[in-house]
Amino acid sequence: MRLAQILFSQGFGTRRECAGLIYSALVEVEGRVIDDPDADFPTEGFSFSVRGEPWRYFDKALVLLHKPAGYECSMKPKHHPSVMSLLPPPLRTRGVQPVGRLDEDTTGFLLLTDDGALLHKLTSPKHHVPKVYEVTLKHPVDEAQVQRLLAGVVLDDDPAPVRAAACEATGERSLRLTLTEGKYHQVKRMAAAVSNRVEALHRSAMGGLTLGGLAPGKWRWVEAQEREALGLKVG
Ligand code: URA
Repeated sequence: MRLAQILFSQGFGTRRECAGLIYSALVEVEGRVIDDPDADFPTEGFSFSVRGEPWRYFDKALVLLHKPAGYECSMKPKHHPSVMSLLPPPLRTRGVQPVGRLDEDTTGFLLLTDDGALLHKLTSPKHHVPKVYEVTLKHPVDEAQVQRLLAGVVLDDDPAPVRAAACEATGERSLRLTLTEGKYHQVKRMAAAVSNRVEALHRSAMGGLTLGGLAPGKWRWVEAQEREALGLKVG
């Protein structure tokens, strides 16, 4: 693919701006300035830098963000900055969107992608990839609450009970709760249904993929081989 087209596809601006970056000697491949917008490169595994910032080529972007508290997942936030403001401009330009939503005060594991089909798949009710939440509660948690969350509780908008796929007390006032669906405020409403209250909520994992050492506010690419852990086909 032509270098100018590569930059354009990765969100570095209009076609004209991308050609301008190359003519201005701001783009390097393997440490060498390439000033020809028509220079042709294979895109598979391709990496380059723009203004000294390294970047990797991905046909479609899938990134993992450690969402801090105080950010909204909405593209049009009302009271707090959007999680989009934590991403570099090329990812915003190419239109990545959060895969589902975390509340403003929830922290942790958030995927974002510009792949419409993938977004649809990951947010579909049929895609039962487990999401793991670390829940801090206002009141002490007892075995009866754990058992009720596992057996299923009824929320106010649906008579069908929702159950935790896994639930264990991790402390006097904390739980690890695994859900395979993603209803609005589901963890908070499930805690309320067993007469407790969520004081802090952190999503630590989705499927077999965890945040690992990713610091709050930081993002990273999801590697092709990690997709399997999200219940997706690899390759
Ligand atoms: N459940 C909630 O109540 N809030 C979240 O942010 C995620 C799950």
